Amino acid sequence: MIGSPLRSTFISVAVAAVAGSFAEVGEAFGQGAVTPARIVDRFEQVDGVHPGFRRNHAKGLGVSGVFESNGTGGRLCRAAVFEPGRVPVIGRFSLDGGQPYQPDRSTTRRGLGLQFSAPDGEVWRTALINFPLFPVRTPEIFFERLLAFKQDPATGKPDPERVKAFEERHPESVEVLRKIAAEPRSSGFGDTTFHGLNTFLFTNKAGETTPVRWILRPTQPFEAAGDPPPTGITCSTSSSSRSIGDRFDGV
Ligand code: HEM
Repeated sequence: MIGSPLRSTFISVAVAAVAGSFAEVGEAFGQGAVTPARIVDRFEQVDGVHPGFRRNHAKGLGVSGVFESNGTGGRLCRAAVFEPGRVPVIGRFSLDGGQPYQPDRSTTRRGLGLQFSAPDGEVWRTALINFPLFPVRTPEIFFERLLAFKQDPATGKPDPERVKAFEERHPESVEVLRKIAAEPRSSGFGDTTFHGLNTFLFTNKAGETTPVRWILRPTQPFEAAGDPPPTGITCSTSSSSRSIGDRFDGV
């Protein structure tokens, strides 16, 4: 049995430890619920304020093209874009993070935003990234992670203590990042496979519903990434001069 002075020391150590971990989580979350506005503010806190640019995926380039449907999607979905024919598409390739002038490192997450304009006037928008998994489970963990991985201007790296505390709280995120790190990196946007990640429910003309995740695979061959550029502004523009329809197959 724990004697009373010993027990009260034990309890105060336990209370201090709990209070410490709340303080850490409190610092990560700040006050109150995570809202879209607070997420946007946090991007500015971490990456600085860059008027006229998106807060995330700030560096990017626009493309236009067509989605050419062979009609087989109609087996799963009655939406007009899956009728045989061509649908105009505009899109934007981007690099993850709120820094519009970052170098094109192959290790930076790549994004692709697409907008399909269907013949019936409907507009479809979707976002894809180059990883088959997302590193966080909820917007709250995303919010916390942004600050945990904020670069220290003195070292150019995140504070290891903050990273460690985040990883201890979210071991599932570490596991996902390990899987992502094992993925081969391609040379640019044009030979990248993009994943929609979310699951959508497709309903066909017979009223049958099927859960679907989509992937965009480049038709040109995979080329492994070379050494990253040391610093400065570079852009992998190889995909911008061709239409999206020429370069990717939807799956
Ligand atoms: C909690 C989860 C997420 C948060 C908080 C988040 C946050 C953001 C923010 C703030 C932007 C900038 C929007 C703008 O200024 O127009 C953005 C852009 C983007 N996000 Fe996310 N995102 C999340 C999940 C995802 C997922 C799951 C994907 C892909 C499957 C994704 C792909 C993209 C892409 C491709 C863009 C750039 C779009 C463009 O070029 O216009 N994001 N995200």
